[in-house]
Amino acid sequence: MAQIIDGKAMARALTERTADEVRQIVAETGTPPGLAVVLVGNDPASEVYVGRKIAQCRKAGIVSFEHRMPATTAEGELHALIDQLNADPAVHGILVQLPLPAGIDAARVLDRISPLKDVDGFHPVNVGRLSTGTGGLVPCTPLGIMMLLDSVIDDYRGLNAVVIGKSNIVGKPVSMLLLEREATVTVTHIETRDLPDVARKADIIVAAAGAPQLVRGYWVKPGAVVIDVGITRVTDHDGSSKIVGDCATHELEHARAVTPVPGGVGPMTIACLLANTVRAARIASASSNA
Ligand code: GUN
Repeated sequence: MAQIIDGKAMARALTERTADEVRQIVAETGTPPGLAVVLVGNDPASEVYVGRKIAQCRKAGIVSFEHRMPATTAEGELHALIDQLNADPAVHGILVQLPLPAGIDAARVLDRISPLKDVDGFHPVNVGRLSTGTGGLVPCTPLGIMMLLDSVIDDYRGLNAVVIGKSNIVGKPVSMLLLEREATVTVTHIETRDLPDVARKADIIVAAAGAPQLVRGYWVKPGAVVIDVGITRVTDHDGSSKIVGDCATHELEHARAVTPVPGGVGPMTIACLLANTVRAARIASASSNA
């Protein structure tokens, strides 16, 4: 039987550590860490994610500043809000929920966020820092994935890691983190040939394709560790619906360890967002004391 990696429990423990650190920051500076969350439009999935992020902030003692803007918002208005948040000393982290409505250039918006407040780790400065191994804020989902992997793997050197999906949010940054640990990393995508054969060579699979139950049992080598980043609501024949990941988890008994969906990567992503906000608050207080 594969071990189930309990992301929910790990996220709870990380959030408790973050809450301890928040208390320390308040004791030292008198100001709690603050996270600004910007939601443009009303994408239903984004509404749910943003709601969860704000609720978890509250649990950890982080102040959240919610900014909701209509889908018709002009890009210039969003830029103006970001400029205001960049300048606000009570705001240590800024998160603009993606995807943005059509007509707004997401890259230009992300470029405008101060790299020091970029708790998503999407600014080109932080992307560059990650790819050169020179610090910076690291994207939350990849950070959470590495913590989940660290709970079952001590030494990554020479392990074959196959990342399925080349997104800027997950695939590319997690491949950089695995490379940093000296795994041999293969990044695959929709055009990859013979993907099951490539996956079968992996000691570690990170499935982040957004394709429900793509990874079947025969894709996975016995003893591999599988991280399932997918989260898709599917409707059954009887009309009922459920959430499934990118892996056919019931076929993975021969894996060493797998993450469940839900309850694996998702909770860790939010816990890492809180941890990044505290890190950004520490960076801000260090620079104001310098
Ligand atoms: N949309 C899907 N995932 C993310 C994320 O990690 N951060 C932001 N800002 N938007 C997202």
